[in-house]
Amino acid sequence: MSVPDAAASVFGDELGRATAYADLLATRGLEWGLMGPREVDRIWDRHVLNSVAVGHAIAPGASVVDVGSGAGLPGIPLALARPDLRVTLLEPLLRRANFLTGVVEELGLGERVEVVRGRAVGPDDKDPLGHHAQYDVVTSRAVAALPRLLAWCVPLMAPTGSIVALKGSSAAGEVSDAAADVARHRLKAEAIPVTTHDGADPTWLVVCTR
Ligand SMILES: C[S@@+](CC[C@H](N)C(=O)[O-])C[C@H]1O[C@@H](n2cnc3c(N)ncnc32)[C@H](O)[C@@H]1O
Repeated sequence: MSVPDAAASVFGDELGRATAYADLLATRGLEWGLMGPREVDRIWDRHVLNSVAVGHAIAPGASVVDVGSGAGLPGIPLALARPDLRVTLLEPLLRRANFLTGVVEELGLGERVEVVRGRAVGPDDKDPLGHHAQYDVVTSRAVAALPRLLAWCVPLMAPTGSIVALKGSSAAGEVSDAAADVARHRLKAEAIPVTTHDGADPTWLVVCTR
């Protein structure tokens, strides 16, 4: 798999580990059923580089939880592009959590990146995998529409924290459709376009704060 020019400017000194991660997605990720065969050609643009966009709304030194990390998106590329962050990858499914544990070990990220096999839950959910901790930033990609995502993410958000969801071009529509949920959680929400590198299409973040 060829490495796009943009990857060097986005990952800098971490380009080697970002490339190793992209290779793991294309090999073990495919074998373990975490990536579809059609995704292999777009691992860099659609997955690895796209994930880095969440960093645009994250302050230096923050603790971050990636809810529903799957194969490590956006959490692993974020941790590689932003060595100042501490990142928890939260994933309930055993095979995915095992994949994440292997990636963190093999990339040598264990000092800053933790894998938790667990689930984000609403306040009334009784779930043995329910994860209860608080973080400066609760991020996610492709996990749920905004109303359900807020119910899961608000309990993980520190009092001065934020939710930063990586969304497609539907972001602004999702924010207006979920206005009542946003208000019920006493949050403010906005959709922000972000371009990760020159020539990339903008991607969208939904950022919620109290
Ligand atoms: C469509 S996948 C997206 C994976 C990854 N974020 C990505 O962008 O490729 C959704 C993931 O969310 C996880 N998930 C679903 N409900 C969850 C919850 N309540 N808490 C944490 N993870 C959850 C699933 O196990 C799955 O790995």
